Amino acid sequence: MTRFENKVALVTGSSQGIGAACALRLAADGADVILNGRTLDERGEDLIKEINDMGRKAHFLVADVSQTSNVVKMVNDAIAVWGQLDILVNNAGVEKNNDFWNVTEEEYDLVMDTNLKGIFFGIQAFVKYCMAQKRGGVVINMSSVHEEIIFPHFAAYCASKGGLKMLTRNLATELAPLNIRVNNVAPGAIATPINKKLMETPELLNNVLENIPMRKLGEPEDVAALVAFLASNDAKYVTGSTYFVDGGLTYHYEEQ
Ligand code: NAI
Ligand code: BGC
Repeated sequence: MTRFENKVALVTGSSQGIGAACALRLAADGADVILNGRTLDERGEDLIKEINDMGRKAHFLVADVSQTSNVVKMVNDAIAVWGQLDILVNNAGVEKNNDFWNVTEEEYDLVMDTNLKGIFFGIQAFVKYCMAQKRGGVVINMSSVHEEIIFPHFAAYCASKGGLKMLTRNLATELAPLNIRVNNVAPGAIATPINKKLMETPELLNNVLENIPMRKLGEPEDVAALVAFLASNDAKYVTGSTYFVDGGLTYHYEEQ
């Protein structure tokens, strides 16, 4: 029996990067997967095919998770696709690099609405379903080492991930009696399109690598492996915390 036999997982922002790796890993471990993105393009089509080739079902829901009405509809549509939803991975996220004094309200809203507000109301829709069906569930939020350590020039991003830290602590407590577990995964620097500029600029990359004891970027699959553990029954006593996958970055950074 596979880890996620008869389970359905929804992974937001899963056309590329960490979200795509999570979708593939959950499918490899037996889940049927609902993918999400703001548009369905070739990457989404390829993922559907790859998951189907593993013998699992895949469905793509177009939704902008920064919009409350969209995110609620996405969760309800996900439940309707195969009549159940067991695992919600809130992965979609954005960052904006800007000096604090130049950050616009538009940038702030985009970051906070995507990384915090959309997650808040997405979880709420999932919890309402779990309550109505009298069933448990698992929520995993893609946070960041920056829920804990500073990231100058990314103030809104840090605020959003810091907010996610407390949201998870609070919800884990409130939802434990409903048998719903909530945890955060906090990646360090992972080789995905979000880090395109970093990976293409040797000076920036070297600065980052100096702060990582393992001296390399992580792979999206490293993050997906942790997500799969937290989503599984192996983690049935695990809730309300953050798990770092960062090559040692967080505590090295604190030491400086
Ligand atoms: P990425 O930029 O490669 O992928 C993010 C995905 O989310 C993209 O497919 C994007 O289209 C989608 N997305 C963004 N806004 C959306 C919206 N409003 N609605 C639906 N989809 C949306 O980034 P990556 O690296 O895969 O990041 C995934 C998550 O991991 C993010 O929450 C990010 O903050 C977090 N993270 C990433 C790290 C890294 O070094 N790559 C480190 C720490 C955290
Ligand atoms: C950010 C990346 C950054 C990493 C390590 C992540 O949260 O999205 O841009 O490289 O943290 O600082």
